Amino acid sequence: MSIIKAVHLRKRFIVKKKEPGLKGALKGIFAPKKIIINALDDVSFSMKKGEIIGLIGPNGAGKSTTIKILTGILQPLSGEVEVMGLNPQKKRAEVVSRIGVVFGQRSQLYWDIRLGESFELFRRIYRIPDEEYNANLELMDSLLGIRRLIDIPVRQLSLGQRMRGEIVSAVLHSPDILFLDEPTIGLDIQAKRNIRKFIREINQKKKTTIILTTHDLGDVQELCPRLVVINKGKIIEDGALDAIVHRLAPERILQIDTDKVKKDFTYPHCKMIKCEENKMWISFNRENVSASKLIAALSAEVRINDLQVKEPDIEDAIEQIYGEG
Ligand SMILES: Nc1ncnc2c1ncn2[C@@H]1O[C@H](COP(=O)(O)OP(=O)(O)O)[C@@H](O)[C@H]1O
Ligand SMILES: [Mg+2]
Repeated sequence: MSIIKAVHLRKRFIVKKKEPGLKGALKGIFAPKKIIINALDDVSFSMKKGEIIGLIGPNGAGKSTTIKILTGILQPLSGEVEVMGLNPQKKRAEVVSRIGVVFGQRSQLYWDIRLGESFELFRRIYRIPDEEYNANLELMDSLLGIRRLIDIPVRQLSLGQRMRGEIVSAVLHSPDILFLDEPTIGLDIQAKRNIRKFIREINQKKKTTIILTTHDLGDVQELCPRLVVINKGKIIEDGALDAIVHRLAPERILQIDTDKVKKDFTYPHCKMIKCEENKMWISFNRENVSASKLIAALSAEVRINDLQVKEPDIEDAIEQIYGEG
């Protein structure tokens, strides 16, 4: 049983294009040039309860549009959406009462009142029972230190503090699914760490299903066993993070420190990628070369003082994917 199901989603935006200059502006008034943007072009994926996925892709790829359709904010041009078995457009109120949404680029809090008053409003809107509200606030205080912020007007909070507030307001009603659209954007390392910890804990403790979009590969590496990569409105990868990284960036790099390098060292299936005064970098593929055999062959020819094997990382893999897109 899938908790989220998106089947062949398409979404188009039609925008009026202005031409430059006064002439263009006048022309635009009488005969605006329209262009069609295929924001989603046949997007399908599903999620099981309790899963965390990282939805990643370059700017304009369609991540936010996907989230807006899944949360009932936008209607798809065609295709089907099911969230907890419900159509989020047709059953908007019921779906909204069981999901939480955070848009990192847009605040859902009321700027002129204290953070705690915002929480109280959500409590009434969602009719959250006292016991549940207090328990959630307690948990959020332990994870995000929220209590010391509740008497501060939202407009006076720092970005990191406000993001903590946004997140808490999205989970006070114990949602089954949490949509986090760039929750770490613009935050410093410490603030990011807090939010990552929160995501991990709420997923483990409450089995909350989470869709996370982010530009921060650290977020993905730490939190998401599964990656869905979208580019130009199409899903171009969907699978285990490890497998994607492994498949797209299988090269490992052996770096050695030596007294005297051997510039013409060769070994089957390996490539010397860099050579300095007393350092050598050799790339090899785990599929056909074992690190220990390569090291043994090397040590027969040069004296190895130190060595390091660098595994391919997600950044290499992503570069590979976007480069193709
Ligand atoms: N309300 C809108 N009106 C017109 N174009 C839009 C609108 N929302 C998104 N788009 C366009 O749709 C595409 C996908 O946008 P979006 O889903 O926001 O991308 P992402 O979140 O991956 O950066 C982009 O080309 C964007 O400019
Ligand atoms: Mg976006």
